Amino acid sequence: MHMGEHTRIRLSFVSPPTVSLSSLAAAVVAVTAAAHPPVLSKRVVHEARTFAPAGWSLHRRADPDAVVPLKISLTQSNLHRLDEYLLEVSDPESTSYGKHWTPERVAEIFRPSRESVDTVHNWLTNDCGIHPKKIRLGPNGGALHLDVTIAEAESILESEYYVYRHSEDGEERVAFENAYTLPEYVAKHVDLVTPSLHLPRSGASLARRAGKSSPVFARPSGAPKAAITDAEVPTDADHCDTYVTLECLRKLYNFYYEPVVPQKNTIGVVEVSNEVYQGQDLDLFFDKYSKSSVGDRPELVSITGGHLNPNETNTSFLGESTMDFELVMGLLGPKQNVSLYQIGAAGDTWDEALVAAFDKSYCSQSGVRSGLDCGNKPTSNVISISYHFEPDYPDPSNARILERVCAEYGKLSLTGMTFVVSSGDHGVAYGSQECFVNGTLVTQPDKGGFVGQFPASCPYVTAVGATQLAKNHTIADGEGATSDFPSGGGFSRIFPRPSYQKRAVTRYLNNYVPKSYDADVFNNTGRAYPDVSANGYPTVVALGGKFTRSGGTSAAAPIFASMIAAVNDARISAGKGPVGFINPALYSNLFRSSFNDITEGSNPGCGTDGFPASPGWDPVTGLGTPNFVHILDRFLLLP
Ligand SMILES: *[C@@H]1O[C@H](CO)[C@@H](O)[C@H](O)[C@H]1NC(C)=O
Ligand SMILES: *[C@@H]1O[C@H](CO)[C@@H](O)[C@H](O)[C@H]1NC(C)=O
Ligand SMILES: *[C@@H]1O[C@H](CO)[C@@H](O)[C@H](O)[C@H]1NC(C)=O
Ligand SMILES: *[C@@H]1O[C@H](CO)[C@@H](O)[C@H](O)[C@H]1NC(C)=O
Ligand SMILES: *[C@@H]1O[C@H](CO)[C@@H](O)[C@H](O)[C@H]1NC(C)=O
Ligand SMILES: *[C@@H]1O[C@H](CO)[C@@H](O)[C@H](O)[C@H]1NC(C)=O
Repeated sequence: MHMGEHTRIRLSFVSPPTVSLSSLAAAVVAVTAAAHPPVLSKRVVHEARTFAPAGWSLHRRADPDAVVPLKISLTQSNLHRLDEYLLEVSDPESTSYGKHWTPERVAEIFRPSRESVDTVHNWLTNDCGIHPKKIRLGPNGGALHLDVTIAEAESILESEYYVYRHSEDGEERVAFENAYTLPEYVAKHVDLVTPSLHLPRSGASLARRAGKSSPVFARPSGAPKAAITDAEVPTDADHCDTYVTLECLRKLYNFYYEPVVPQKNTIGVVEVSNEVYQGQDLDLFFDKYSKSSVGDRPELVSITGGHLNPNETNTSFLGESTMDFELVMGLLGPKQNVSLYQIGAAGDTWDEALVAAFDKSYCSQSGVRSGLDCGNKPTSNVISISYHFEPDYPDPSNARILERVCAEYGKLSLTGMTFVVSSGDHGVAYGSQECFVNGTLVTQPDKGGFVGQFPASCPYVTAVGATQLAKNHTIADGEGATSDFPSGGGFSRIFPRPSYQKRAVTRYLNNYVPKSYDADVFNNTGRAYPDVSANGYPTVVALGGKFTRSGGTSAAAPIFASMIAAVNDARISAGKGPVGFINPALYSNLFRSSFNDITEGSNPGCGTDGFPASPGWDPVTGLGTPNFVHILDRFLLLP
């Protein structure tokens, strides 16, 4: 059995009208409005969207007397300097390399300014007539909260609230239809307002979408599965074109490393919703490949109610988690504890749930959703994520949330964390082959613009593509981009290209992009990914009591994450800190010969051949596959 439909926490913003409060408030507004006519100031559209995410339809006007908890998230200070701060601690040429910040310093530097708090507060009290007693500054000074009636909120934001209903489970939320406005002088101090336009894109509708091409919930799912009928599953590295064993991975990447200071080092893997592992499968795998690991389990860190399910037998829900832990625990061996960040099936926005769990200021400053775990979960030096949470596409309302979450990856990286993320298994298309047609996402069109995926498209994570050995090729022949499924890669339509990859990406754009691609096929100024790649097919795993061949960029990410964990172990044992944000180093001259350049293959999608792999960096295999010994050596040279 499986857990049934993904349990969604119902999160209706519409509370029953509290008559006394609302009529009192209405009276206050009326009196104040009469006493002080609002100062006229130019208003600007602050957030807008053209259509609601799939599944949501406008149902009726919201009840004007209902009370709505309005949250006005303030603009973070110094956010425009995030890249600069990150380069200071992660550029190999920087004198502050490796000098990571404390979480307190991060909170302090990015906390909204007094000016922002005062400007918005004064506007609410003076122009909007809200009684100061009704306005509360959130715990980290990041947002102003006020419980107001729908009618009051509409007058503050100059828009109209509607009740939207989800076609699948009848969930209701209040939201504006197109846009809301703020006075121009206030707008620059406000990041976003909730509830306003945001409706969860993920949740049930994503589950349904992913279900079309694959039963697996939100995991990159394009890699085919093949049961191994041969009872003699190899343990050696002699047939890495057909059976990728741990020994294949070690040999391919020169990755023979036993942790020296495992008690001082940490690595974690993210799993979402009802994607779980079964202990018997880990033991079946370890018994063959890592005997001394038999009986070992990851340490569970539950986020927003995430939990294991020992009753799960449907391999559709076991594939991701099982493969991730067999690879990470298998490659790092029994000495290194590995954390499992299991994020509950809380309906939507796993991306917000994850960053909020590490940084409590996220909840108070943005956090579109309530009920998140806030800063109370242990971090890890390296975190591996084999999921896509959202399409990378410029829906004006959604893009703001993705920007906010992406910045949070950057802020957490400032403290010395490394986020390693799979690049997806659908080539230049998103999810179940979605592409950009006439300004919207269309599934499997004959032709369409390329669509990236988040969080791989965020410039503060290390995105990993997938490679494989061609049939009958040996390790000595070298790998190409995967051909059994197209490895994800391309250019963000939201995030601009970070400086660390400009040289490498410009070289690709100037020399290898097919001439037939019009300007709107992809955004050639965007953050380009993946950054690196690792073998992603056909990975030998034990799943549902049997050995199976699986894979995907889902495998490539935990493989690469294991190597970065090993690098951290060596650095810590040498009295240094963890590497944190690694991209500026990986693209630098220091690491020029640390990768096996992959030049064969491409990543088709959206009715095209996608991008060709090429000499140097390319949007299929990134800089190439790692030569662990070389990477370790380079990171040990750095302070
Ligand atoms: C496993 O789950 C998938 C996705 O929900 C479903 O399509 C499939 O029928 C399930 N398989 C079994 C054996 O229940
Ligand atoms: C690993 O986890 C186990 C179980 O939680 C714990 O007893 C042990 O001390 C941990 N080892 C290290 C090296 O942290
Ligand atoms: C697993 O099954 C047992 C027995 O039916 C039940 O008591 C338990 O609640 C189930 N656990 C989960 C997580 O569903
Ligand atoms: C896109 O728009 C064009 C022009 O309006 C129309 O001819 C075409 O059918 C549209 N394509 C899709 C897939 O909707
Ligand atoms: C691989 O080798 C086998 C045995 O020599 C041969 O039958 C097969 O055609 C080869 N496959 C490819 C794709 O070269
Ligand atoms: C291209 O990406 C940039 C960010 O790099 C963004 O500002 C711009 O709007 C995007 N253009 C299109 C057409 O998507």
